Amino acid sequence: MTLVRIPSVKQVYECRAEETILAGMVRLGGKAIFVGCQNGGCGVCKIRVVSGEWRLSAPMSRAWVSIAEERDGEALACRVVPRSDMEIEVLGSLMKSPARIWDSSQSGFAPS
Ligand code: FES
Repeated sequence: MTLVRIPSVKQVYECRAEETILAGMVRLGGKAIFVGCQNGGCGVCKIRVVSGEWRLSAPMSRAWVSIAEERDGEALACRVVPRSDMEIEVLGSLMKSPARIWDSSQSGFAPS
């Protein structure tokens, strides 16, 4: 069991062994990190690791995290498995999610 701290929202929670940061938060009902596909494809769960050891559960899409960003500690929370207690910053935004793109031609009503 490892602890994940998110100082900007004053949250600390526990991740189980082999659980990603995002899965641990979702299991506990947290909302500090945006939740999208939970499979590395949408980028809304982007974080910066401030401290702690971690590994990737699977490769990250370079559409959301470049090699340079990864070197700076940026990652997708749905791919990060803690190996020690960690401190992170939330970087993701729902504005990046394809689900947020409005296509009024596909709907019977338009935004006001
Ligand atoms: S939730 Fe979609 S990339 Fe992490």
